[in-house]
Amino acid sequence: MLRVGAPHAAFAAMSTAFDSAAFRKALGSFATGVTIITCRGADGKPLGLTVNSFNSVSLNPPLVLWSLAHNSLSLAAFRAARYFAVHVLAADQEELSVRFARRGADKFAGLALETGIGELPLLTGCSARFQCRSAYQYEGGDHIIFLGEVLSFDRSDAPPLVFHGGRYAHATRRDPPGVRPRRSWLAGSFGEDFLGYLLGRSHFRFFAQIREFLRAEQLGDEEFYVLSTLTLKPLTSEEELKIGLAGVLDGEATRTLARLTERGYVRVAPVTAEDPGIFYELTDAGRACALRLISAAKAVEENVLEQLGAGEAPALKSLLNRLLAVIDPASGALWGNERERRP
Ligand SMILES: Cc1cc2nc3c(=O)[nH]c(=O)nc-3n(C[C@H](O)[C@H](O)[C@H](O)COP(=O)(O)O)c2cc1C
Repeated sequence: MLRVGAPHAAFAAMSTAFDSAAFRKALGSFATGVTIITCRGADGKPLGLTVNSFNSVSLNPPLVLWSLAHNSLSLAAFRAARYFAVHVLAADQEELSVRFARRGADKFAGLALETGIGELPLLTGCSARFQCRSAYQYEGGDHIIFLGEVLSFDRSDAPPLVFHGGRYAHATRRDPPGVRPRRSWLAGSFGEDFLGYLLGRSHFRFFAQIREFLRAEQLGDEEFYVLSTLTLKPLTSEEELKIGLAGVLDGEATRTLARLTERGYVRVAPVTAEDPGIFYELTDAGRACALRLISAAKAVEENVLEQLGAGEAPALKSLLNRLLAVIDPASGALWGNERERRP
């Protein structure tokens, strides 16, 4: 049966003498996973919200807890529910977390649901799920603490979503203890702790695996750079192409473009009144070749990332994107704001 503990007299007397924003910030130092907790309302409707106050309590008996704000629109339903389900979100479920953190919205619209114990609405694609009997409820200041007895659980290898300092974050494995970046013989010179070495060598080794596909298409590195830059938008201006190839092909761009044009892969788009400048576009043959290369390159990527571990790829990509925003801010112009200009 449900038990509700009375608030302790000492807590009622305590005043919040400190700044609540600073308190929140300090609590945010504690990195957590992110969960969505669901139950079935008395009217049969599924309810749920994003929660990071989830925690394990006991292994035997298997108990977990989480706390729900008094002002939550789901409060009455959770207080009355016999069961609740905890979904530990996977790294790729940030959007779901944002959706379930919106007050009262129709959070389940369009979602594929499974049905659990006592008709519990279960979300899919999570790192872990715990179906619980709602065993105890305790007053906890402006929250109610729910203690659940775990009746059933399942898990996957999907890496978890992390919340830290008020933002979503990545969980990345650290190197095993004792593993240190190797240093070069010449003191203070390039070593495994030098970003240039890590980026450069990674690029060369990665690209070496793509080069065999280029050879089969009788294309060189330069042609690949131009071709792939032209896949970013339907039409690429001269200026955008220059930005895309800056530091990669500066001197060679014009000659490479001419070779690809001769080969029938690229052409200058017809001029229109709105956009009088010079724009390049891929021909059908150029697009087909680019697609073959993209799929080969994606296969190389998949293979490399599989060895790295599923959870590490999003973290690595996010950091590299941030690095590019710092060292190559102009490249942002190559993306988005797509110009449709068809003859
Ligand atoms: C990462 C994250 C963690 C949260 N943790 C909790 C929590 O532990 N308890 C809680 O009551 N609300 C928590 N919230 C806020 C609720 O998800 C939010 O208030 C939601 O709109 C409540 O929905 P409802 O009013 O429809 O029940 C969290 C929000 C986020 C983004």
